[in-house]
Order: sequence, then C-alpha cells, then structure tokens
Amino acid sequence: MKILLLNGPNLNLLGQREPGVYGRETLADIEKNLTKVAARSGCELECFQSNHEGALVDRIHQAFSGGVNGILINPGAFTHSSIALRDAVAGVALPTVEIHLSNVHAREEFRQHSYIAPVAIGQILGFGPLGYELGLKALVHHLGGAG
Ligand code: DQA
Repeated sequence: MKILLLNGPNLNLLGQREPGVYGRETLADIEKNLTKVAARSGCELECFQSNHEGALVDRIHQAFSGGVNGILINPGAFTHSSIALRDAVAGVALPTVEIHLSNVHAREEFRQHSYIAPVAIGQILGFGPLGYELGLKALVHHLGGAG
C-alpha cells in the first residue's frame, strides 16, 4: 500500500516556527518517524512539502496516476483558502485524511473553516506530531489494511 504525505506552506519551518504552537520537532523528524511507522504497517510512504499551491495540486494529480492508495495532508494555511486544493482532492477521489498539529478550533476565527474537510474522510488535529501517526493509522484502517 502506498501513502502520500503532503505538507503545505511554512511546514518546512517546523522546529523553528512558533514552537509554542507547533512544537520543536522538524518536518524531517516527522517524515522519518512516519516512514518507519508506515513500514511497520506494510506501507510505503512518499513525502512531499511545498509552499506553492499549484505544486501541491500537481502532486495530488500525480498520486492518482502513480499508484497511491491514500493521502495524508496537512494543508497549512491553504486549508482555509484553497478551493484548488479541495478540487484536486475531490478530483482524484483518493481517501484523504486532513491533519493539523494545532487545535485550529481553539485559535483565530479565520482558522475555523476548512475547504478540505468536506472532501476528506476525516480530520485529526490538536495532537502535534502524533496526529500524523494517528492519521496514518486511520487511513490504513480505512483502506482495509492493518492500521
Ligand atoms: C496548521 C494550522 C493552520 O491554520 C496553519 O496555517 C498552519 C499549520 C497546523 O498544522 O496546525 O500552517 O495546519
């Protein structure tokens, strides 16, 4: 089973970016750990981060033709703004789990709405880096694997 992990804008700065909100773990730490966790469930993990909306849209399209079974995505601020990302997820119709490190509902008003949520199978938020593991588990379970 192949899973695509997508991270959106500014998530490349994890570890140094607002550590009080997002913690001290870097994206490289998260990707390395999740690759190990995925392997234990018999999954291959492909990781991609971009600060560019179109690059994320392109990667989602590639997933469709590239044999990816499901997507884990932390869309960052594009969560609250990107109809293009939402349409890409809906367009490829691959099961998608939305992840946020922080509890966006306990934050600013503009973070309360997600364009991705209606086309995702579920959301996991507020648990920091653990959310990526929980999301992977939920996605693999949804796909009928040993998540
Ligand atoms: C985030 C929450 C978003 O509101 C924010 O723009 C991010 C990170 C999170 O993981 O908590 O960049 O997606």
